[in-house]
Amino acid sequence: MTQSRLKVTVTRKLPEPVERRLAALFDVSLNPSDAPMDASQLIEAARFSDVLAPTLGDRLDAKFFEKAGSRLKLVANFGAGVDHIDLAAANRRGVTVTNTPSVLAEDAADMAMALILAVPRRLVEGVRALEQGRFAGWSPTWMLGRSVRGKKLGIIGLGRVGQAIARRARVFGLEIHYHGRSPINPHVEQELGATYWPQLDDMLPGMDIVSVNCPHTPETYHLLSRRRLELMSPQAYVVNISRGEIIEEDALVDLICAGKLAGAGLDVFEHEPSPNPKLLAAPNVVLLPHMASATVEARIEMGDRVIRNIKMFADGHKPQDRIILGLG
Ligand code: DGY
Repeated sequence: MTQSRLKVTVTRKLPEPVERRLAALFDVSLNPSDAPMDASQLIEAARFSDVLAPTLGDRLDAKFFEKAGSRLKLVANFGAGVDHIDLAAANRRGVTVTNTPSVLAEDAADMAMALILAVPRRLVEGVRALEQGRFAGWSPTWMLGRSVRGKKLGIIGLGRVGQAIARRARVFGLEIHYHGRSPINPHVEQELGATYWPQLDDMLPGMDIVSVNCPHTPETYHLLSRRRLELMSPQAYVVNISRGEIIEEDALVDLICAGKLAGAGLDVFEHEPSPNPKLLAAPNVVLLPHMASATVEARIEMGDRVIRNIKMFADGHKPQDRIILGLG
């Protein structure tokens, strides 16, 4: 496949240096208006493209791959999560799928750490109190939060982002615990002073803060179910910068409103872009609009990774970031 002739369709507006480089390398179709494409527009774009570069809002399901035609060979996702792509259907159609791992881990971890601090220390409540004229002067008992030092942080999924969070959390004096399908490299575990819990149910009751950092897959859908959330201490907080679907959101809000959980810091929601209205009204909750990777630097690096994956594919190599079914 000749790179200069490769037809690449990008579904959303990307940072200007990324679009410039894409235009220099490929026959590229950009989306300057940034309007999300609907299902039929995605299919139409795919039928005339060798490569589609979608993002997390674009649902590439089995029907998409059925109708996408035979020209499409590569889906080079702009983003780490690929839960919007039916990987089995892509595989059946012989379409390679790549993502952009690693490059957003540090910025995403900063945002998780910001939530780990913001919720127990009531940061947003404090800002609102000041803005609404409710600051009547310092008081020994007003706006008391909970200190994070010495608390136990339970990380669900100690991958790249989870480890970056653990490194930050250690500096703030948190004790690191984690759950995943298997223990991580023992050297890294030792460096982080992390304790592995093979069973999530065993880890949850002792944690002060639980951070969700695993990918969303059929196995992790509602992993933090009502039953599991009920195992947690009423003093505990939940933080999620991964995917909303991993938490049973209704149960989370019910438990927070009933005082059976202390609060939550969420960058992602079960039904984006609309957060559950009950969450918006819930106390001790800090909500962000899915912005953990939203830095100029991360988004340019993500674009660079998309370009590298397309170039490797065009050169006849297996792209570095190809998703291998079953290893998600
Ligand atoms: C991803 O890359 O999947 C992130 O959710 C974007 O912030």
